[in-house]
Amino acid sequence: MRSIIVDGPARLSGSVHVPGAKNSVLPILAASLLCTGTVVLRNVPRLTDVQAALEIHASLGCTAALHGHTVSICADGMRACDIPHSLAARMRSSVFYLAPLLARTGRAALAAPGGCDLGPRPVDIHIDGLCAMGAHVVQESGGASALTAPRGLHCADYTLRFPSVGATETLLMAACAARGVSVLRGVAVEPEVVDLARFLRSAGAEISGEGTRCITVRGRGALLGTQYDVCADRIVAATVLCAAAACGGEVIVDGCPARQLEPLVSLLRRAGCAVAALGTDSVALSSDGALRGLGLVQTGVYPAFPTDMAPLLGAAVLRADGISVIRDTIFPNRFVCAQGFAVFGARCGAAGESLVVSGVRSLNGAQAAAPDLRGGAALVIAAMSAHGESVIDNAHHIERGYEDISGLFTPLGAHLETACGCPCAV
Ligand code: UD1
Repeated sequence: MRSIIVDGPARLSGSVHVPGAKNSVLPILAASLLCTGTVVLRNVPRLTDVQAALEIHASLGCTAALHGHTVSICADGMRACDIPHSLAARMRSSVFYLAPLLARTGRAALAAPGGCDLGPRPVDIHIDGLCAMGAHVVQESGGASALTAPRGLHCADYTLRFPSVGATETLLMAACAARGVSVLRGVAVEPEVVDLARFLRSAGAEISGEGTRCITVRGRGALLGTQYDVCADRIVAATVLCAAAACGGEVIVDGCPARQLEPLVSLLRRAGCAVAALGTDSVALSSDGALRGLGLVQTGVYPAFPTDMAPLLGAAVLRADGISVIRDTIFPNRFVCAQGFAVFGARCGAAGESLVVSGVRSLNGAQAAAPDLRGGAALVIAAMSAHGESVIDNAHHIERGYEDISGLFTPLGAHLETACGCPCAV
């Protein structure tokens, strides 16, 4: 078992260049199956979820190689349409392979996708939308799905019942491969949806309206090989800002559009941090570590405060003066990390969909287990603001979304390291 060992408290100082976004690269990797020839993706974070995606490519008969932060993929030799159970179970993003597999082979089978356990995560909108484009469900049980499209996918005018990020991405890929002009209404407008649309356009797709609630796509069949730079990870940027708010210090996060961080920035200002945009792609934060409780905060779809940042913000206000109530409207079990916060001496609990925090003066180092990806990162923030040594177990959850969380924070002055838990040590 891998663990993060933290010696706190830290005061953070310095700047961080934000890496490529997990939530962009994973759908883009799947979408590259729609292209003939070679796709080269740059600014790819070296995450375990990316590794799992490359293993899915290999299992389908595609070539995929990661060198540094660049991936080269060629799907010309694709010969399978089933995603092995062991790979599907490793990440939620395996669902993104449904549309490309249907488009390429007329069939797609997927065991229940894995990923963070944040409550029920149905894929009904993905499937309903694909059926509106000519797919048929041949099996659906226990989260597993098998679909066919023997006559290929066709265009549709389809309205999503909820602006699901993942379903929007699935249907965008399907529409690019379908015959005719598709109109997708009620879609998600998150930056990662826009990034996928830009990638697809760079491969020859005709798409308009991404970033609005209605996307129009003129399907073209096969797309072409392309080279593309994955956008910055706004959640990693938020992790650094929340850590500096919690610990105190002065940090700059660079390379991520400041407007994507605006909801978080206004909440951190409310808590007492000084935050300023430096141009369009940098944000500077200064905190003396003495924060005010936030009162009531609610997550929502973009451009509202994002669900992924909710546990990170929770960690930032554990020592704030007053009450903070953070309600997640997207996932019911977002705050399992509250149990870990409490081990550090925080006064907090998960109540329904909310994290309720009544700030304490100080936290003490302790051993806690990462319950999921963002909850795990939130525990690392809590540990960096606590006195003494902490051990965060189950680091594999964190490594799905952070290339090297120790390497992210040590240049800023924090003391933490990743240990593999076997006798070979750190
Ligand atoms: C969600 C976040 C996204 C974040 C990602 C990773 C939102 C809207 N989406 O995306 O910003 O990056 O988690 O943590 O905040 N749903 C259905 N049926 C479906 C698909 C989704 O009912 O077919 C529901 C989900 O259960 C959830 C909500 O819609 O309650 C949002 O789902 P969706 O946006 O698809 O989730 P992700 O794509 O995982």
